[in-house]
Amino acid sequence: MLCGATVRPCDKLKNMASANPFQDPLRFERRIPECAVAIFGANGDLTKRKLLPALYRLAYERRLSPGFAVVGISRTPMSDDQFRASMRESVAKFLEDSPFDEEVWSGFAQGLYYMAGDIGDSGAFSNLASHLNGIEECRHTAGNVLFYLSTQPSQYAAAAKGIGAAGLAAGNGWRRIVIEKPFGHDLESARELSGNLHEVFRESDVYRIDHYLGKETVQNILAFRFGNGIFEPLWDRRYVNSVQITAAESIGVEGRGGYYQEAGALRDMIQNHLLQIMATIAMEPSATFQPDAVRDERAKLLRTVRVMKPDEVLANSVSGQYGPARIGGADVPGFRQEKGVDGQSQTDTYAAATFFVDNWRWAGVPFYIRTGKRLPKRVTEIAIQFNEAPHAVFGGNDDGSTPNLLILRIQPEEGISLRFLSKRPGAGMKLRPVSMDFNYGTSFGERSPTAYETLLLDAMIGDATLYTRQDMVEASWGAVEPILNVWQNQKFDFPNYDAGTWGPKAADEMLARRGHTWRTP
Ligand code: BG6
Repeated sequence: MLCGATVRPCDKLKNMASANPFQDPLRFERRIPECAVAIFGANGDLTKRKLLPALYRLAYERRLSPGFAVVGISRTPMSDDQFRASMRESVAKFLEDSPFDEEVWSGFAQGLYYMAGDIGDSGAFSNLASHLNGIEECRHTAGNVLFYLSTQPSQYAAAAKGIGAAGLAAGNGWRRIVIEKPFGHDLESARELSGNLHEVFRESDVYRIDHYLGKETVQNILAFRFGNGIFEPLWDRRYVNSVQITAAESIGVEGRGGYYQEAGALRDMIQNHLLQIMATIAMEPSATFQPDAVRDERAKLLRTVRVMKPDEVLANSVSGQYGPARIGGADVPGFRQEKGVDGQSQTDTYAAATFFVDNWRWAGVPFYIRTGKRLPKRVTEIAIQFNEAPHAVFGGNDDGSTPNLLILRIQPEEGISLRFLSKRPGAGMKLRPVSMDFNYGTSFGERSPTAYETLLLDAMIGDATLYTRQDMVEASWGAVEPILNVWQNQKFDFPNYDAGTWGPKAADEMLARRGHTWRTP
């Protein structure tokens, strides 16, 4: 024991700050400390399209510390300058709606380094250790390192092991690791992956990214629900009739046929993104906005999602696959005709399910979730259907469309609409649904950060609120695995929907059984 050791006033302040995150200046001012980001898979698509543009944007916003560096690692031999040139091209191309500023880029590019290395080779990790030492000395990154695995998931375990064996998982600063989904392909493999990571990193240093949680509109669900006093009293089984969560994409598998054939829509979107959205809609308020307080509530909710029995699966889930079609004068191939896809594939490119939350607040309220590729448009939204007025004093509405509906639009038109009945002008009491609309763009008139900007910043600050925790991953697999198990023994009559349509008929029938219909977004 260090008897007599005195606590310096500045240490005292630091301790207080870490105990109370509301006083933690880095977390609440969103200032990124000095650090190096080591990206494995630096020559891949994710790095080019998402990670580097996001880091550049943080530089543009002056959020990065002067002590900042990136070291890219992949198998392709390249010099630092070649890496910088390649990243410059990608950043300029994938910046979306932001300007590319030469001056900001040249400052940012000075902190970019590259080393060729293979995750399967232990020499690569000792090489990385000396690179990181050199970078720490010349860029003053304070020994803080964020490892980002932008690789095939099959390499996660080997990468973590290599980092650990080279002594890189601990040092004079913090060490954290970010991994991308999929976190396993079922419950057992998710546990195995987590076991491998935990041999090297503590759970609190493992950041499992779910980019939907980083979307501004998904974060806004928390603000909407818990920042206002109006909605929460209505947010339960007494007033909510049903909830629909839709994530539709008009694109097909875009060259990812090989991956997608193994994954399918249920694994690719519902197991992670959409169950996380559902948890955000349905969770209890957390008493504080501390990372684990919020994550505990999400996790609790996911654990209460009813696990389907095998004989309930086919009535409460729908698997679909798109076939060829002619859209806008062009021939669109069916999934089975896509590159890398088996001509007899039984993979779902569309998945829908009815979930129930077995708790006091939500008992009996169906949560309908659907997602699919090659649907008519790209749209993600949550529609909360409130109960009708108990008695139709005015005889109902005259066009049959639904009032008492709250729509949270996640993308691409970000906003919120409330639909309710209103009197039509003129004699008599004829009612018609109207909308009260909030639109992000017009209300705030400023650009929203991309999900990757938000999430990378959070990981560097050490704020895991928007990251998935292992217990949530396991609970989500618990909800999805029984469906997969039944589907796997089924021979589906695929394709069962044409590209460019709203999915298979069976999905409509699934809702009709409870007297509901899907909304057309
Ligand atoms: C990814 C899925 O996680 O999310 C893709 O693997 C999907 O298949 C993508 O296209 C959708 O993300 P977003 O942000 O474009 O809705």
